[in-house]
Amino acid sequence: MSSAAAELPNQNATIPIIMTDSAVTETGIRAAALRVLAARDRLNARRIIVLLLISVLVVPICVVAIGSGLGLIALPQEMFELASRSPILFPAHMVCSALALLMAPVVLAARRRPEYHRPLGRLLGVFVVIGGLTALPVAVLSHSPLGARAGFFVQGLTWLWLLLAGIRSIRRRDVELHARLMLAMVAVTTGAVWFRILTGGAIVLGLPFDDVYTGAAWAGWMVPLAIVAARPRLSAGLLAR
Ligand code: HEM
Repeated sequence: MSSAAAELPNQNATIPIIMTDSAVTETGIRAAALRVLAARDRLNARRIIVLLLISVLVVPICVVAIGSGLGLIALPQEMFELASRSPILFPAHMVCSALALLMAPVVLAARRRPEYHRPLGRLLGVFVVIGGLTALPVAVLSHSPLGARAGFFVQGLTWLWLLLAGIRSIRRRDVELHARLMLAMVAVTTGAVWFRILTGGAIVLGLPFDDVYTGAAWAGWMVPLAIVAARPRLSAGLLAR
């Protein structure tokens, strides 16, 4: 075995290769170390983007949703009328769904601390059940375009299904499947964020509002869900230690 005295850019970097006298040169070690560092940089960059998205988008949207649900912030006229048709279900939907969205990053971040992950995950599950079950009648009672209401309805069903499938997988001790299903559930939850960005963009750009509203009610959650489903390595990277 050659000595591991080769200079590394970062002494804490882990180099996942087996060193033999003949095969390993200093240049090879240096290149491997640089690759490890580059991978770490990419991972840290992704984490910073996620944190920025959470603080700039998720937190304000959830604060407004909870304020609207508690009657502290005025709803737009159509939503105000919807709230008067479903005075309990709609506020419950707004508050519980927003709490689910707020809690999701915390529960994911606590994934290696079962003493926090389990109770917080159960509480998050309760909010998803209430938020999802109340979304279904709200979608039926809404006067929004039919295509949009159908999108919300299918989103609610998908949300609940992913939660149930995630719970069943962890009861079978299938941790990997549980992680993938819960990430998919969170991706569906983020639909509330992308939906508002898309519909807000339609207002700013003067695009046909009803069409964008209907498209956003589907694309807002299906695109993030498709990304998470199609790129499990990206998700695994985000969840890496
Ligand atoms: C993930 C599944 C979700 C479904 C199926 C769903 C469904 C719905 C539906 C059907 C409406 C009425 C829209 C209309 O009539 O045009 C609505 C409104 C609303 N939802 Fe959700 N929602 C979900 C997630 C969330 C989340 C995570 C939040 C938290 C921010 C949220 C907060 C609200 C708020 C505040 C409104 C009323 C005002 C507005 O549109 O800003 N929902 N939702």
